[in-house]
Amino acid sequence: MQPLPAQPPQAERLSAEPPAATVSGLLRDIADVGRDRSRGGYSRPVFSNAETDLRNWFSAEAGRRGLDVHTDHNGIIWAWWDTAAGTRRNAVVTGSHLDSVPGGGEYDGPLGVASALVAVDLLKARGLRPRRPLAIAVFPEEEGSRFGVACLGSRLLTGALDPNKARNLKDADGNTYADVAAANGQDPRFIGADHRTLQQLGMFVELHVEQGRGLFDLRQPVAIGSSILGHGRWKLSVNGQGNHAGTTLMKDRKDPMIAAARIMICLRDTARNYKGARATVGRLQPVPGGTNVIASRVDMWIDVRHPLDEVTAALVEAIHLNAQLIAAEENCTVELGVESMSPTVHFDTELRDWLRTLLPAAPVLDTGAGHDAGVLAGHIPTAMLFVRNPTGISHSPEELVEDADAETGAQALAGVLAGLLGGATSSDSAVARL
Ligand code: GLV
Ligand code: MN
Ligand code: MN
Repeated sequence: MQPLPAQPPQAERLSAEPPAATVSGLLRDIADVGRDRSRGGYSRPVFSNAETDLRNWFSAEAGRRGLDVHTDHNGIIWAWWDTAAGTRRNAVVTGSHLDSVPGGGEYDGPLGVASALVAVDLLKARGLRPRRPLAIAVFPEEEGSRFGVACLGSRLLTGALDPNKARNLKDADGNTYADVAAANGQDPRFIGADHRTLQQLGMFVELHVEQGRGLFDLRQPVAIGSSILGHGRWKLSVNGQGNHAGTTLMKDRKDPMIAAARIMICLRDTARNYKGARATVGRLQPVPGGTNVIASRVDMWIDVRHPLDEVTAALVEAIHLNAQLIAAEENCTVELGVESMSPTVHFDTELRDWLRTLLPAAPVLDTGAGHDAGVLAGHIPTAMLFVRNPTGISHSPEELVEDADAETGAQALAGVLAGLLGGATSSDSAVARL
């Protein structure tokens, strides 16, 4: 890694020209894209019309700023601000994602993308001439809400996901990633580890809405990330006997819905025995799913998180064992398969300590949420900035960022990028306030 500036650099003259856009203004421009009228909030799964519209929106906004935009084989959009020399090496990367969970909030992902655009505006308004390139990256399928594997784009980029496995991932309608990607103009034959692009990247700083109440309680607008909780996803299928709801006596049933209900209660109780653990069933699918039909199978997706990956493994094993016992009592069987696992990540300490000198009032917080930054952290020095969320709620329409905090976040990001790119902002009034 290129040495960080020894201390927050000297002040740079601010241009009188106001920035071309605001974060809240950019978010308002896309506020109607992918609204989910039945669930509330936004549903913007990868390759949906909504996500495609957002990707096009981003490309147009980046193009308007003179950035060189292209989409790579893994579906990651890169928008480059090159140096005068034009060499793409040791780049500072920022950005986030535009896909959402079903019925998600307005800020998870788009805040980081819009803030990156505004940060570029702020740096251009200051007349900054980067000494190293800057790239804004938009990663696809960060949420894994369509194909089940979170951070799909960054996992492919870094080689953390076997491209064959990715091509065969299926969405809820049984469409493979390969088919859906091809239908959306991407060639799935070429997905996978992209060493050429990786070699261009020097550092990644992702700005994201905070997904808890840490900043609200501390009365601060922006935090520096310290770590991401290890997390994984498993699919548990409970197999029973499909049958008629009216003619099958209660004593004769092999009902996987009953087993699934008991397994979920047991999962919660088991997780409570592991300090710091979180275990969730947020998605459940009975097959065939008729009101007057005893299900033949129930698929449930389990999300488990803990700071220690060995504890996560032990907890999943305990859940599996209990599920087998419960299923047997209900004359059913279970099968468990892992969908993805992301170990606990601690961000680069040198970069984090440097951020602390730049943003002295910003607290250092960890997060229980997953991010592409967690994947990139295994390859390049990586950091995160979090912006206050007064509700503390996320993956829900109730997720919130106040407009003023959104702008403060973008100013903080601009200050960080200026420092990393060779510019200077320590006495920039907005940054100094933090
Ligand atoms: C993504 O936000 C996750 O934490 O699963
Ligand atoms: Mn996110
Ligand atoms: Mn999310």
